[in-house]
Amino acid sequence: MATIQLEQVEKKFGEVYAVKPLDLTIGDGEFVVLLGPSGCGKTTTLRMISGLEAVSRGEIRIGGRNVTWAHPADRDIAFVFQLFALYPHMTVWQNIAFTLQAQSVSGDETKRRVAEVARLLQIEHLLNLRPRGLSGGDRQRVALARALVRRPAAFLMDEPLGALDADFRNVMRAEIKRLHLAQHATTVYVTHDQIEAMALGDRIVVMSAAEVQQVGTPADVYYNPANLFVARFIGSPGMNLVEGIYTNGAIQLPGGNRFPVPEQWRNEMTSGLGEDGRIVVGFRPEAVTVNDVGALAARVYADDLYGAYSMLHLSLDGENPETVIHARADRNADYPIDTPLRFDLDPRQVRFFNPKSQRAIPVGALNLEAARV
Ligand SMILES: Nc1ncnc2c1ncn2[C@@H]1O[C@H](COP(=O)(O)OP(=O)(O)O)[C@@H](O)[C@H]1O
Ligand SMILES: [Mg+2]
Repeated sequence: MATIQLEQVEKKFGEVYAVKPLDLTIGDGEFVVLLGPSGCGKTTTLRMISGLEAVSRGEIRIGGRNVTWAHPADRDIAFVFQLFALYPHMTVWQNIAFTLQAQSVSGDETKRRVAEVARLLQIEHLLNLRPRGLSGGDRQRVALARALVRRPAAFLMDEPLGALDADFRNVMRAEIKRLHLAQHATTVYVTHDQIEAMALGDRIVVMSAAEVQQVGTPADVYYNPANLFVARFIGSPGMNLVEGIYTNGAIQLPGGNRFPVPEQWRNEMTSGLGEDGRIVVGFRPEAVTVNDVGALAARVYADDLYGAYSMLHLSLDGENPETVIHARADRNADYPIDTPLRFDLDPRQVRFFNPKSQRAIPVGALNLEAARV
């Protein structure tokens, strides 16, 4: 296995950037997810690492070796696009052994390695069958086995679960995670599904419009988003983002609500403010506690039952859809539409953004414990 280093790697098609200059080091054995909406440059980035796409500028190193201009076959990587692409006329054994035979691995070694990977993926009973008779899940296990058996320096996977229904995605996601924990293979995994990214990634590279927005652990991008794009994109629903005005140590929010800013944050906060003290307050639905005595007030706009809990839509000013926030609440409580209620925000889970630059104002984010008030 190996590290992958991208240094100022960029891709232009004509005058248009598909990937703006990107710096990224993927550690040996690390699982890194490239996450972002369609068209943001994920596949292009992966294809540049694989050598299927030439870089416009920059340098790529795999295992310390400069492979920027190396042929894809000389980069020692396995690329998994879609786990379905098997040769129909070959048995499962032949499908898996094929790449080793192409690399002139000896017959005995091939048998040993196919048996080992078949055991790992629990497909030993399928080795003599042809792909056509297999279920979708078994076919994908075979396709994964074919990539694994090569023992490449790194795996590159482009939306490998994209074509599956939701149940099956969950199953295969768990399989990929288990495999990674067993093998610790350096992996770059592309998806537009933030749930998949959160579940699989050691780190997530959030991309938008050809540009990296943030690189961080799942907890980083969830709790400390670097900007409004990441705050909205991660989470379902995304982070609540409410615009307010900072004056005299508190932020004035819609509906006459007021969020007092902890003393130790005020200096830093003031330097990050937008024009006229404008600021965006961000918090996750689980940072809201609905109760009878809370410092903030809202009206119930809608109530979605999610099963284990309710997702309340609360209008801060009592009517305007633009002031609606989401709050996680007890599924057994009844919240008729338009009911006025009160709630508190856990200040440790509140984040702040400059409305103009859209960037996080880094107060409270770095040390959650110290910010307890
Ligand atoms: N061969 C190509 N020629 C021109 N534009 C391309 C080509 N490949 C990709 N693009 C453009 O580059 C951008 C990034 O594409 P892509 O990397 O496939 O995005 P993603 O995988 O994130 O959906 C898109 O705007 C896409 O239209
Ligand atoms: Mg793509």
